[in-house]
Amino acid sequence: MAAIGFDVYGTLVDPLAMSEPLGAVAGKRAGEMAGLWRAKQLEYSFRRTLMGAYENFDVCTRDALRFAAASTGVELSEDDEQRLLGAYLDLQPYPDVVPGVERLQQAGHFVVAFSNGVEASLRELLDRAGVFEHLDGIVSVDGIGRFKPHPDVYHYLAEQLESPRDETWLVSSNYWDVLGARQAGLHAAWLRRDPSAIPDPWGIAPDLIVASIEEFARRLA
Ligand code: LAC
Repeated sequence: MAAIGFDVYGTLVDPLAMSEPLGAVAGKRAGEMAGLWRAKQLEYSFRRTLMGAYENFDVCTRDALRFAAASTGVELSEDDEQRLLGAYLDLQPYPDVVPGVERLQQAGHFVVAFSNGVEASLRELLDRAGVFEHLDGIVSVDGIGRFKPHPDVYHYLAEQLESPRDETWLVSSNYWDVLGARQAGLHAAWLRRDPSAIPDPWGIAPDLIVASIEEFARRLA
């Protein structure tokens, strides 16, 4: 039996699906704006950890939206901003999520969501997505005030799951997250949602590379 933490954004739900609600304000540039929003959200979380200037992930997401709008030449009203941040809680799960997590549960594994996100926001998102009821819980980095890929956050996951580091798994589509977990002494599976994604050539390999959560469940068995 393994203790498994699933990354959320990009792994359970797709933040680039925000291009749809962004269409109303950004038109043809909605896809570009969604990509910039996500990239800046991560950059802000990395920079805040390096600077020792933690503000939670909701703040990073809001600030990144404002930057992405300004950079795309989109003027956001307060209503637009509220609507878009609200839509961020409505992201839908990838189709393999519920069957894959159920399969892991049936095999006796302990499965949580493990994310940079704020716990209350993750709870709302995963509830609306119909995923929360299939999980054993949520571990948010908000509990320690640093973001992935700081090693402390992966150690925190293992502690919260009361599992030795080398028996604890991270599953993530974000390669930088996989490297963070491996570097911190955890097992990590790279969920290659985008077949054209290129791994960072750092000489650190995932324990498993899989195309779906169901494949992860099979390979773990
Ligand atoms: C997460 C983001 C960073 O932790 O993907 O869910």
